[in-house]
Amino acid sequence: MKDKLRLIKETALAQIQASDMPDKLKDVRVKFLGKKGELTSVLKSMKEVAPEDRPKVGQWVNEAREAIESALDARKKEIDAAVLEARLKAEAIDVSLPAKKLSIGHRHPNTIALEELERVFVGLGYEVIEGPEIELDEYNFTKLNIPADHPAKDEQDTFYINDEILLRTQTSPVQARVMEKGKLPICMISPGRVFRSDEVDATHSPSFHQIEGLVIDKNISFADLKGTLEVFAKEMFGEDTKTKFRPHHFPFTEPSAEMDVSCFKCGGKGCRFCKGSGWIEILGCGMVHPHVLEMCGIDANEYTGFAFGVGLERIALLKYEIDDMRLLYENDIRFLKQF
Ligand code: DAH
Repeated sequence: MKDKLRLIKETALAQIQASDMPDKLKDVRVKFLGKKGELTSVLKSMKEVAPEDRPKVGQWVNEAREAIESALDARKKEIDAAVLEARLKAEAIDVSLPAKKLSIGHRHPNTIALEELERVFVGLGYEVIEGPEIELDEYNFTKLNIPADHPAKDEQDTFYINDEILLRTQTSPVQARVMEKGKLPICMISPGRVFRSDEVDATHSPSFHQIEGLVIDKNISFADLKGTLEVFAKEMFGEDTKTKFRPHHFPFTEPSAEMDVSCFKCGGKGCRFCKGSGWIEILGCGMVHPHVLEMCGIDANEYTGFAFGVGLERIALLKYEIDDMRLLYENDIRFLKQF
C-alpha cells in the first residue's frame, strides 16, 4: 500500500511539474484528487485494509494528498505568473514608436474664401444674415423688379417646386426680406447657396454660392459703393489691387455696374490668368432701384442704398488659381489638402 501511494504521489508530482497551462493543471487535480481520482479510489478501498492498519494507511493517504495539493498550488502560482508575464509582453506598447498620424479635416477653399470675405465686411460693420434656399418666386424675382414676363427670368432658369416656390437663383431675395422687416439703416451681407438648372462644366454648376451685400441709409451714394468695394478688393486680393467699374444692367439696381479688379497675377500687364486683359471680373453691383425700395416699404425719397453680389466659387477659384470649378465639389482629399 505504501508503495502504491508513493507511486501515485510521484506520478502526480511529475505530472504537476510537466503542466504548463492552468487547464492541464486542473486535469491533473481531477485525475488524482477528484471524485474518481486515483487517491480517492485508494480511500474508497480502505475497507479492504485490516482495521488495525487503517490509521496508518489513512495518514499516508493524507500525507500524499497534502503533498499533491501543495505542489498543485505552487505550480498554479508559477503558471499564473508566467501567463501574466506573457500577456504583458504581448500587449506591451513601445512608446518610442512614431505615433499614428490623426488626420483631421480642414476647411474647404470655399469656406476659407467666405471667412476671409466675412472678416472684411464684419470689420466694416456689416451684419451677416442668412435667407432661405427654398424661396418664393415673389422674392426671388418680382420684388427685385423682375416681373413674370421679364427676360432676366429666363437667364436664371431654375428648379421650381410649384408655380410660386423655387430654389433661389440668387441671394438677392434676402435684400427684399431684410428691407421688408423695416429696420433701418441696413448694413448686411448674406452668404448662401443658390441654384440654377445649368449643365456642369469648368465654370458652371447647378448649385453654387453667392454673397449678397446691402446698405440702405440716408445719403448713400455711388461713391460709398465704390469706396466700400475698393476696400474689399484690396483686402481680398492685395494692397496694390485696382478696381474698375463697367456700366451693366441688373433689374434691381440703377445705375448698375460690374466691378473688375486688376489681375493680381500679372499686376495688370496681361497674362494667361486674366486672358491678356489685365482685369478680372469679380462682382455685380449698383444703387438699389427706387422701385425695389418702394416695393419693400422703404421711402425712396428719404433713403438710398447700394447692393452687390459676389460669386463665392469665383473668388475661391481666383484666389487659389484653380482652373476647374468641379474640383471644388468632388471632395477629393488630395486636392482639398492643398489649401
Ligand atoms: N444677383 C445677381 C446675379 O446673380 C448678382 C448681383 C448683381 C447682385 C448686382 C446684386 C447686385 O446685389 O446689385 O447675377
